[in-house]
Amino acid sequence: MAILDKHKAIEKNATLLMVLSFLVVTIGGIVEIAPLFYIENTIEKVRGVRPYSPLELTGRNIYIREGCYTCHSQMIRPLRDEVERYGHYSLAAESMYDHPFQWGSKRTGPDLARVGGRYSDQWHVEHMARPQDLVPESIMPPYKHLATTQLDGEGARALLLANRAVGVPYTEEMINQAMADFKAQASADADTEALLERYPGAQARNFDSAEGVSELDAMIAYLQVLGTMVDFTTFEPDQSR
Ligand code: HEC
Repeated sequence: MAILDKHKAIEKNATLLMVLSFLVVTIGGIVEIAPLFYIENTIEKVRGVRPYSPLELTGRNIYIREGCYTCHSQMIRPLRDEVERYGHYSLAAESMYDHPFQWGSKRTGPDLARVGGRYSDQWHVEHMARPQDLVPESIMPPYKHLATTQLDGEGARALLLANRAVGVPYTEEMINQAMADFKAQASADADTEALLERYPGAQARNFDSAEGVSELDAMIAYLQVLGTMVDFTTFEPDQSR
């Protein structure tokens, strides 16, 4: 066939083949990438989503350090079985302040995108110490050391600064008050008015019921906020675009 004969000429000439392949890939790339420059925001803004508080962000850091993502995903797909098991499918906005995001692709354990509020703090305390005490067939390892590692909140400010550097809108005030907010959120009787003004809806209490602020406090504060920022009883997807 005539057209195949012409193609033969390209296939026999390595340089020509490379130049033409490059051209095709370039056109394909432009078609995919160029429109992104013209939309103001690829993430739909959703009410309730706020940057993590210093204590939650510290817990998130420990979550990453311990490699929890090797067994747990944080992304509920819009499929019926997932939505029935875990709740409303994940919105892009819900991980807009996650650097790096924790969507994951490995589910040895359940998805954790909406684990916030599912269990009591005490459940998490016991589960982290020895998962098999609560779920006998669990293969999750124990993380006892979280309860015995104390935190002074010194690292919170640097953590906020690092996240601001990659685009999380922490204000000067949030950065300056990082350590105070860190401590206020983890104690049962602190004045939390300023904390709640900066981080609306933040849950403040002594998460591990033990004295001082431990890594376990930070971890539970993080787990308890996961998936709870958006109120899905009133949420409506933006249909205007
Ligand atoms: C080796 C894989 C593995 C690792 C690593 C792991 N988990 Fe798990 N996790 C599981 C499994 C399996 C379950 C289900 C059984 C259970 O509840 O223990 C689970 C359950 C959970 C649950 C309860 C979820 C639900 O909806 O019932 C939470 C919360 C949790 N893990 C948190 C963590 C955190 C935090 C870390 C890191 C410090 C972690 N896991 C590390 C395997 C793992």
